[in-house]
Amino acid sequence: MRTNTEKQLFFDDVAPRWVRDEEERSARLAGLFSSGILPVSGPVLDVGTGTGILLPHLRASGCDAIDACEISEAMLRTAQERHGNVPGIRFLRCDAHRLPVRDASYGTVHCFSVYPHFDDPDRAIAEFRRVLRAGGSLCVLHLMDHLELNALHRDAGRAVAHDVLPPVKTLADTLTSSGYRVLHAEERPGLYLLHAESLPTS
Ligand SMILES: C[S@@+](CC[C@H](N)C(=O)[O-])C[C@H]1O[C@@H](n2cnc3c(N)ncnc32)[C@H](O)[C@@H]1O
Repeated sequence: MRTNTEKQLFFDDVAPRWVRDEEERSARLAGLFSSGILPVSGPVLDVGTGTGILLPHLRASGCDAIDACEISEAMLRTAQERHGNVPGIRFLRCDAHRLPVRDASYGTVHCFSVYPHFDDPDRAIAEFRRVLRAGGSLCVLHLMDHLELNALHRDAGRAVAHDVLPPVKTLADTLTSSGYRVLHAEERPGLYLLHAESLPTS
């Protein structure tokens, strides 16, 4: 995996402050999970788990096999401190572009608030397809639209200033041409949600 990149160090630095606004985001996630709009077929990969905000929601939705993946050591350590006693969760320090798992390992790959940070989104999308079972779900979720998120990144510091989330329609087209079928693509103030299924390789 890549180590000591500027971005990884940026997230190491923000890790101690990351849990601060968790309550509000967690309440919104609870609403989305209980609405049934988010895929939860296991095993699940939580890409860029951060401090692990998604993990209790996945567990409460019945997922009992979850891999939580992170490039930031500090984020992963915090996630482990908070959720390490929950059975069924593995904590993997790894890069989403090169996942240390076999083909067809997962029923769902969740990318919650991480997609714009990928250095090579096309490679990450291909890697997710490799580790998803045929028919498995890729979910890209943000609790804001792309305009709001991109403005936030521009002001957040050099390491993430150029991390851009495309409009949901653009990402839907990218996934369609990368071996996925888009099942749901929605964007409005306060929400960006794309759910696609991985098509079998012919
Ligand atoms: C904006 S934070 C979101 C964290 C968490 N999903 C949340 O919503 O609280 C993005 C996280 O993704 C991680 N990340 C960025 N690029 C990554 C990559 N290529 N592979 C794995 N994790 C990555 C960062 O270290 C950071 O913790």
